[in-house]
Amino acid sequence: MVYGLIGDPIDHSMSPAIQNAAFRSTGIDAVYVPLHVRRQDLREAIQGLRALKLKGFNVTAPHKVHVLRYLDKIETSAAAIGSVNTVINENGKLSGFNTDGVGALKALGEAGASLDGKSVLIFGAGGASRAIAYALARHANSVRLVNRTNSKSKELAGRIRGKFHIEVTHAPLSSKLLRVFIEQANIIINASSMGTDGIANPPIEVDWLRPDQWVFDIVYKPTQTRLLELADSARARSITGLNMLVNQGACAFELWTGRKAPMLEMRHAVTQGLLAMEHAESS
Ligand code: ATR
Repeated sequence: MVYGLIGDPIDHSMSPAIQNAAFRSTGIDAVYVPLHVRRQDLREAIQGLRALKLKGFNVTAPHKVHVLRYLDKIETSAAAIGSVNTVINENGKLSGFNTDGVGALKALGEAGASLDGKSVLIFGAGGASRAIAYALARHANSVRLVNRTNSKSKELAGRIRGKFHIEVTHAPLSSKLLRVFIEQANIIINASSMGTDGIANPPIEVDWLRPDQWVFDIVYKPTQTRLLELADSARARSITGLNMLVNQGACAFELWTGRKAPMLEMRHAVTQGLLAMEHAESS
């Protein structure tokens, strides 16, 4: 059986390492391949995947939103989010799901962070942020969205408020109120691409953070982002993007196979993969 991942770029994805390790360890006779698909080729690529009878595939940037129009069925919460990252092919019928939200919830749960009655601040308003904000809004007391482009966080805030009837506010990343927002939050999540370059500092000062707060960064490369460094300096509790990556991959594996995901092997594969990548980049 063949599974795959479509996206652009695709070279540095850890998903092939994670899913192939899971297939190997569960004895499932399957392979997972990265497939570079440009935006203008998405429709033909989906037709091709259907014709080639791939059993399922993951979808990454920039296709998570556009892919919806080429699928036959979309699971309710993925439809509400408007973003799909996992597709199942059942006899030529393609069904779309989103495992980012569940992956984030599981990563928080594993770390021991409870959401009940908590105030959550989320950076970003893109595909991943949408999925995470929807998943968290079911449990949290309030959600605050902070994004570089204010119109996008405003739109997302409106949608979540309409659906969950909880307190949802939004602000631009450049807001002078960011300090107050950070101080008022119990859980701070970076669900944006901020920090992927490993160089730029987030617009946060270390003394805005406290040890009773959770700081969760979905960026997994670098593993220790500038935001997580700040969290460590402030002795706040931190959760790395690796936990999210493994958990969203595990949810996809379980959707495809109906089997329990081998978490340890998947986690080991991603740790090894990242180490190898960092080694290759430094030599
Ligand atoms: P994904 O599917 O991974 O969520 P996306 O939908 O392209 O990807 O969303 C990327 C998010 O990261 C957006 O919220 C984006 O902000 P804009 O809405 O302003 O584009 C945010 N983002 C990307 N680069 C950023 C940076 N350097 N600093 C802060 N936010 C950034």
